[in-house]
Amino acid sequence: MTSPAPPPAAPIGIFDSGVGGLSVLRDLRALLPHEDLLYLADSRYAPYGPKGDAFIRERSFAIVDFLLAQGVKAIVVACNTATAAAIADLRERYNLPLVGVEPAVKPAAALSLRGIVGVLATSGTIASDKFIRLQDRFTAQVHILTRACPGLVELIEAPRFDAVAITSLLQEFTAPLREAHADVLVLGCTHYSLIHDLIQNVMGANVRIIDAGLAVARETRRRLEERDALTTSTHEGTLRFFTSGDPEAQQHLLARYWGVDAEVTTF
Ligand code: DGL
Repeated sequence: MTSPAPPPAAPIGIFDSGVGGLSVLRDLRALLPHEDLLYLADSRYAPYGPKGDAFIRERSFAIVDFLLAQGVKAIVVACNTATAAAIADLRERYNLPLVGVEPAVKPAAALSLRGIVGVLATSGTIASDKFIRLQDRFTAQVHILTRACPGLVELIEAPRFDAVAITSLLQEFTAPLREAHADVLVLGCTHYSLIHDLIQNVMGANVRIIDAGLAVARETRRRLEERDALTTSTHEGTLRFFTSGDPEAQQHLLARYWGVDAEVTTF
């Protein structure tokens, strides 16, 4: 038996292992200002990067079940690692629009003048079949250099923002990309977009840095449009935050990366 689709006024659910998906939320909020949005950070289990597909799939199922119970009409998996590990299974199991995020290799290949593209992502994303297939589609066109960034998500999620420690990790991780003169850098983990300016400083002003946030927001709008499921409201959409971790710690991170003192509910 299939249950009736939620009404167009229903919210859109967005999740990530932590605060990284806020970079996608920013683009969703800008493109769909009237939609109600629910953001869930699976902070208790972050980082996902080194966790393995089976674990991430289980977490994704639990989160989607929770968001469905909140009445969402669509879900954005605002995490490259979870998209690579779980989106196919999620689409098989659930009947609602599920939009994932993957490293923006295609636009990077089109943008690169030198034909050398760097990709920063988690080890899980880089090792995934999904990413390997994506990369294979463009290797005839451009040289793609990938680099996993262990420890970076932890620093972005840390209670104290340590720009010096982050910069020093970035210097190490991007060295091979800078030496190869990559002229486009893909941020293949949604967390990294939150420290875009530090990455730009390390890479230098001549390197174009791109992510997939806007593409995800556009795809979300397209998927809702084709189902006639966009809200008809003309008011500013609401925004609610959930975490599987410590709500106070989450509040602190939201103040840092979203600029608000928001209420956070435990999931
Ligand atoms: N923000 C996530 C991504 O886009 C995952 C980071 C992590 O938890 O390791 O890949």
